[in-house]
Amino acid sequence: MTEKQHIIRHRAAVTKPRRETLNGHMSANLWFTGLSGSGKSTLAHAVEERLHLMGCRTYVFDGDNVRHGLCRDLSFSLDDRRENLRRISEMVNLFLDAGVLSLTAFISPLESDRLIAKEIIGHENIIEIFCNCPLEICEQRDVKGLYKKARAGEIKNYTGISSPYEEPTNPDLVIDTGTKPLRECVAIILDDLRERGIILK
Ligand code: ADX
Repeated sequence: MTEKQHIIRHRAAVTKPRRETLNGHMSANLWFTGLSGSGKSTLAHAVEERLHLMGCRTYVFDGDNVRHGLCRDLSFSLDDRRENLRRISEMVNLFLDAGVLSLTAFISPLESDRLIAKEIIGHENIIEIFCNCPLEICEQRDVKGLYKKARAGEIKNYTGISSPYEEPTNPDLVIDTGTKPLRECVAIILDDLRERGIILK
């Protein structure tokens, strides 16, 4: 008998549906995927701002932030990226149960890893949002100066340069973050949340 067999789940009386009723909206996860510099974090935070002003309970998980704490031990090898996303997915699961609308901004470069995330979080709970911005634009922006370093060989396994990015085959939303103004990108997502009945206003 393994130790795990001695761990028995406790059933909470305060359940997800009760929390959702209290909050006045459903819990869900908005999973932003795209190249570094494609605008995932900017868009996720802008959507969060609007949702917060509407009185929704929200939280943004951001690759650069999470890698300073929960995932500080992980590199950018494909194995470590998978582990990064697995931990985030488990965290998202807890936030779902807590009744929160979570927004995750991770490159999440591989289709197979995004599938693992969907399986952990539940396909019905996740809205996959592809921040569609060509590599040339991300590289031109180079907000953090990392593309330049990656081109110079100072950073290895850099997504889009020396490590793959697989575009999602069937995302729920494709947002052209390279060309569309932020305001329009936010509106597309809020409309989608209303259509799904996740938010009411
Ligand atoms: S993921 O691939 O595991 O999903 P994550 O979103 O957590 O990546 O982290 C990406 C951020 O880390 C980038 O926005 C960038 O600022 C930084 N970074 C540092 N090294 C790399 C690298 N080799 N590849 C991609 N991003 C990197």
